[in-house]
Amino acid sequence: MSSLPNTAPVQQPATEWRTILRHRWPLRWMHWINLLCMLALVGSGLQIYNAHAALYWGEASHFDTPLFATQAVQGQDGRLRGITRIGDARFDTTGVLGVSDNKLGAPVRSGFPGWSTIPGSKNLAMGRRWHFFFAWAWVLNGVAYLVWSLASRHLDRDLALSKRDWRDIPRSIVDHLRLRHPHGDEAARYNPLQKLAYLGVIFVLVPLAVITGLSMSPQMDSVLGWWLDLVGGRQSSRTLHFIAMALFVLFTLVHVVMVFYAGAINELRSMITGRFKVRYPVAAAPAKLPPQPGRRGEGS
Ligand code: HEM
Repeated sequence: MSSLPNTAPVQQPATEWRTILRHRWPLRWMHWINLLCMLALVGSGLQIYNAHAALYWGEASHFDTPLFATQAVQGQDGRLRGITRIGDARFDTTGVLGVSDNKLGAPVRSGFPGWSTIPGSKNLAMGRRWHFFFAWAWVLNGVAYLVWSLASRHLDRDLALSKRDWRDIPRSIVDHLRLRHPHGDEAARYNPLQKLAYLGVIFVLVPLAVITGLSMSPQMDSVLGWWLDLVGGRQSSRTLHFIAMALFVLFTLVHVVMVFYAGAINELRSMITGRFKVRYPVAAAPAKLPPQPGRRGEGS
């Protein structure tokens, strides 16, 4: 005998939203100051790159064999074409890299387009001033972040991976692939992949950008000579500085996509006002959030 299809409604566990304090004000300020500095650094850095739109490895610039270059060549029809070179490979990138339209719509030689560089589209001297000003502002902000994170125990409470986090990495990957949103206490914490991404940026990318940046100045030879020996020369350092910039941009793009995926309004509110909404199953929701200043999600 065939059984009847089960038409009983599936009981969803009751849930309720609670508002927690996710990010304290120093962290929120430092995060947005960081974004401002990074925008200025990328824009002014591309301005400096455009003054010689090619990267090399080693100590000397071998003009004919760059590792990476965004150049302009005159085609047989007399038109300018933008060519991007990566090793021996060449790509036509007219309109974006090598050759792009100026404000009047005319094609001009430019490693990166004028709209991506600050201040203005061709101003090396001012680009350098902006870059050095924002580099120091960014480093000071980073030092303040590090001191605050250690003093408030943000680093070991919220960012350091626990044994459980390491075990949970495969599950976290599956959750991300299945687009599964966490609830309750799990949503109030950073997930292991998020922690790894943030720690990678803070302890790998930031030091790489700072060391490669400083080592391009001959005044730093006595302090960072060991680094130039390690990577093979100033041109290698310039290339690694550019790669660090590209990885920052990549991180930021993925980071912003994840913010939208996790709920742009809730996430942005949490980084602007500190308040973050978390959905708890009714039975599991704490009747009142315990006052434990210093713990993320529980006030400060
Ligand atoms: C438009 C650009 C950006 C937006 C909208 C944005 C937004 C956010 C939000 C909402 C969070 C909190 C995430 C959560 O609570 O789960 C966050 C955290 C974070 N963001 Fe961004 N962000 C931006 C750019 C950047 C940039 C450029 C960097 C650095 C390269 C960065 C590094 C970080 C780090 C390290 C954290 C964790 C901070 C901590 O807890 O110590 N963000 N961001």
